[in-house]
Amino acid sequence: MNTLILKIEEGQEYDISKAAKLLKLGGLVAFPTETVYGLGADGFNKEASRKIYAAKGRPSDNPLILHIADWEQLDKIASNISKEADKVMRAFWPGPLTVILNKKKEVPYETTGGLDTVAVRMPSHPVARRLLSESQVCVAAPSANTSGRPSPTTAKYVIEDMNGKIDMIIDGGSVGLGLESTIVDFTSDVPTVLRPGFITLEMLRELIPNVVLDKALTAQGRVENIKAKAPGMKYKHYAPKADLCLIKGESSQVIKKINELAKEKEEEGYRVGIIGTEENIPGYTFGLIKNIGKRGEVNSIAANLYRVLREFDDSDVQYIYSEAFEEEELGQAIMNRLKKAAGYQMIRV
Ligand code: TXA
Ligand code: MG
Repeated sequence: MNTLILKIEEGQEYDISKAAKLLKLGGLVAFPTETVYGLGADGFNKEASRKIYAAKGRPSDNPLILHIADWEQLDKIASNISKEADKVMRAFWPGPLTVILNKKKEVPYETTGGLDTVAVRMPSHPVARRLLSESQVCVAAPSANTSGRPSPTTAKYVIEDMNGKIDMIIDGGSVGLGLESTIVDFTSDVPTVLRPGFITLEMLRELIPNVVLDKALTAQGRVENIKAKAPGMKYKHYAPKADLCLIKGESSQVIKKINELAKEKEEEGYRVGIIGTEENIPGYTFGLIKNIGKRGEVNSIAANLYRVLREFDDSDVQYIYSEAFEEEELGQAIMNRLKKAAGYQMIRV
């Protein structure tokens, strides 16, 4: 298949009608959102949804998120929306928040992975919004990566994974945030965060004080006995090609420990990578060192994380040591992705 690329230059006029038409006809179009790039198709078209799973190599019982442009579209998708859900959607939409609601019968099981609930999000990225409103399609979109790779934060990575497999890629440059949306389930007894993101637990608590973190998130990988509520969480998640280990503690101790570990591995003949914050980079003396952003600016760390992991996958390092972060506010989402990537290997110093 020949994949069309539509490049959008910042501040320039663009015509998105071709992409909107492809979606209406059941095609696959990758597009930027404020979190990560999405791989979109008409979520009310079973065949189109099936094509998404095929292009990503994704198990068909892992449900998709429906993306909408306006509140009228929500009426077509969900029913029995609780007051709490309504409050949270009104506060954070459009934006990096996905809610799990009861689905209307018109939403095909091909899109919800066989569930009677449905994930919905109204993104804020201007290109995503224009595509959604011009097509008037409720767009089912997972992240636009091959299953098992980090979510793409620039069109370059979408092209790497999807070129030749989908109809079109809209290149809108680098995304702003770099981590997938926060997912909150409003169909269980108490609102439950299934995936941490930019809308933090602290922000949600201000509106719905009874919100909790899903047990699978606090179990630190010991999930055998806990049924993961987001089906995506039960699959082997992205794991880097190299063995990743996180080091947590006070900066000078962390630098010392990482240098020790890196030296040891290099002496054994392995190639080593280091993920460090800008403030600490001058302290590292071994291996391929990558700057993940300023420790004082968590937003930059979130924005760089998936790029750094992809770059290491393209290098020949066999062991990666990474600094860890505080698990509060946005740090919770960053550490959720890092800990999964590390298979929960963490050393405290
Ligand atoms: O930021 C994002 O959310 C991006 C952009 C493209 O919008 N999308 C994204 O989609 O991350 P995906 O498919 O990579 O992740 C969706 C997650 C999966 O873990 C899936 O299992 C969960 O949402 N999910 C979807 N529908 C669900 C449902 N009805 N109940 C529980 N979890 C659900
Ligand atoms: Mg994904």
